[in-house]
Amino acid sequence: MIVITKDMEVGVPKIDTQHKELVDRLNAVTAMGAKSVSQEETRKTLDLLGEYIVKHFGDEEVLQKQSGYPKYDWHRGQHQLYIGEFQKLRKEFEANGVSAKFTLDLNNSIVNWIVRHIKTVDVEFGRYYRDK
Ligand SMILES: [Fe+2]
Repeated sequence: MIVITKDMEVGVPKIDTQHKELVDRLNAVTAMGAKSVSQEETRKTLDLLGEYIVKHFGDEEVLQKQSGYPKYDWHRGQHQLYIGEFQKLRKEFEANGVSAKFTLDLNNSIVNWIVRHIKTVDVEFGRYYRDK
C-alpha cells in the first residue's frame, strides 16, 4: 500500500490532488490480491486505475505544454512507457488472473515506478512550474 509522504508533494494543487486519487486507485488494486474477489471485480478495479492513469498523465502534460516545460517530450515519453507497462499488466490479468507474475509486475513496474516518478520527475516539474 502506498502512503503519500512529504517528498511526494509536487506543490501544484491540481497535480497533488490527482496523485492522491491515483494512489487511492492503485491501493485498491493492490488490496485485491489479498482478498478473494471475483475476476469481474478485479477487472473493474483495474480498469478504473487504467482510466485514471491516462487522464492524469494527460492533464499533467497539458500543464507542461502550457508552461513551456523544456523536458515535456521526455516526461511524456516516460508516461507512455508506463501506460505500456500497465497494458502488459492488464493482458497478464486477462491471461492468468492475479498470478504471481501479475503481483510481481504490479509491485515493480506499476507501484514502485509511480512512487519513484512522482518523487523525482514530477517533483522536478513542480519546481519548474512554481518558479515560472
Ligand atoms: Fe509525470
